[in-house]
Amino acid sequence: MTKRTPIIAGNWKMHNTLAESAALIEALKKAENKNEAEIIVAPSFTSLAEVAKLASGSAIKVASQDVHWEDKGAFTSAVSPVQAKDAGATHTILGHSERRSVFGDTDEILNKKVAAALRHGLTIIFCVGETLAQREANETIAVINSQLENGLKGFTAEQLNGLIIAYEPVWAIGTGKTATPAQAQEVHASIRQFLTDKYGADFAQATRILYGGSVKDSNVDEIMAQPDVDGALVGGQALLADKFTRIINFN
Ligand code: PGA
Repeated sequence: MTKRTPIIAGNWKMHNTLAESAALIEALKKAENKNEAEIIVAPSFTSLAEVAKLASGSAIKVASQDVHWEDKGAFTSAVSPVQAKDAGATHTILGHSERRSVFGDTDEILNKKVAAALRHGLTIIFCVGETLAQREANETIAVINSQLENGLKGFTAEQLNGLIIAYEPVWAIGTGKTATPAQAQEVHASIRQFLTDKYGADFAQATRILYGGSVKDSNVDEIMAQPDVDGALVGGQALLADKFTRIINFN
């Protein structure tokens, strides 16, 4: 089996003042990283440039939580991929369930955002996940396949090289409910199969698939032990330096 470098990513969402962001990144720069994981943090836009500046020279990479699909223009409050990159982001999250459900990001919109991120060389962390109703109706795999199919439509394996996928069951985000390791593994294996069928085995084997949804210091070890789980996208506990450090150093 291909060895994939694990990724531990923290999504800071709409949290942290500049001073709080600076304190958190300074603490994380000192953290042990015994698994040599790739560490990525996604601060809110007001802190992005400052966090990127403080992280430069360290192994921690910085992501934006979203980008607009245009490079510039009359789009009040939006942030373009050019601006995210200029502020120091190397990665961008796209399709987080809060973007999908609260801000109306559809598969079609996300497909345009994917194009924009690729155009500017931002590595995409593409989020997919089912709601509780969809899981209970046995639609999980179909929902995720359609999010992947439509969100990534029109791009080749070569263009998507480096893509990161995050499986985040909507019912597990911020709820304290985590998918069981077996539930996570089942969906991750299915995502890898989708990638194999669509983009070929080399692409699928190289792609990191992260799990997200109430990842904690207390459950990260069993989740990371699953063969198709290559990392974690962490919300709540990414704001706490000691908890996030423990997650980085999963066993
Ligand atoms: P959570 O958030 O860890 O607070 O559940 C995860 C996410 O939304 O990425």
